[in-house]
Amino acid sequence: MDWEKKLGELESQVSELLAQAQKAEDFFRIKQQFLGKQGEIAGLLRGIREISPELRPIFGQRINQAKQLLEDRIAEASRQAESRQAWGGGETQDLTLPGVWNPPGRIHPISQALDEICEILEDLGFQIADGPEIETDFYNFEALNIPKGHPAREMQDSFYIDDEIVLRTQTSPVQIRVMEKQKPPLRIYAPGRVYRRDMDVSHTPMFHQVEGLWVDGGITFSDLKGVLMLFAERLFGEGTPVRFRPSFFPFTEPSAEVDIGCRICRGEGCRVCGNSGWLEILGAGMVHPGLFRRVGYDPAEYTGFAFGLGVERIAMLKFGINDIRLFFENDLHFLKQF
Ligand code: PHE
Repeated sequence: MDWEKKLGELESQVSELLAQAQKAEDFFRIKQQFLGKQGEIAGLLRGIREISPELRPIFGQRINQAKQLLEDRIAEASRQAESRQAWGGGETQDLTLPGVWNPPGRIHPISQALDEICEILEDLGFQIADGPEIETDFYNFEALNIPKGHPAREMQDSFYIDDEIVLRTQTSPVQIRVMEKQKPPLRIYAPGRVYRRDMDVSHTPMFHQVEGLWVDGGITFSDLKGVLMLFAERLFGEGTPVRFRPSFFPFTEPSAEVDIGCRICRGEGCRVCGNSGWLEILGAGMVHPGLFRRVGYDPAEYTGFAFGLGVERIAMLKFGINDIRLFFENDLHFLKQF
């Protein structure tokens, strides 16, 4: 057998196959066929026995050269094919075409409103606090002066997990959790999700609240008014009218609901404000002494105020949205506007 001729044939066979190969599997197959254990080169090497011993080293060297050459060629061809693929299957790039545009995402309107609320409270010296969304009946109700059977439980239709565990219906339980751990003075805010069994244009089963709590010696109702007026002005603009209406919450006394002048009709009366010219934004009041006693504060030494606001409500007013459910439908046509 003419070894040189055989090797030459192998080389041109490989060249031909490489010219057609495109995918990784093609290159793998060529490699197998020529360089694999059962491949052509291995076959030639097995034939070394038929060669006279003095010629064997020369022959071996020659085969190894050929093997190296084929290896290099296959590797190079496969590298080239790979980069051709990466550049669009061999087509040259048209650098004058417009690029692929990935539109940037946006911050959800609820997050925008929440961020703004938190920033204002931070500026007023409030520190962030946190509590669980899956809450005990004790923290969500009992400790807030809402014992079992109290009519106020019906103000908030709850999701119960069992008799003692509830999805928190308000962020107020964080008041208790913080006061149990810290002594006054304290000035905290607690943003978070809350849950109630409710669903219509102004209610969703999950929504967001931000709780505020300031306790120290000598805090008065005028401190509450001052803080909330500053807050409303920063959130809705200077000169926004703010009104305090007497109200009731079991955990504050006295209690108030706070309205701002309707931004849509400027107080004239319209559909959104129910012709009253005012829109409710939050509930508030002076912390009930029963809460202080429960956490071991002396009500003769400390007073404080608390407030709780609905973030969706504020986002609806800020952005002029009339159906709360829109926030949670994840419709990009809606979300892109903010
Ligand atoms: N937790 C009350 C609610 O969800 C709001 C509130 C908070 C009222 C703090 C007074 C003080 O309706």
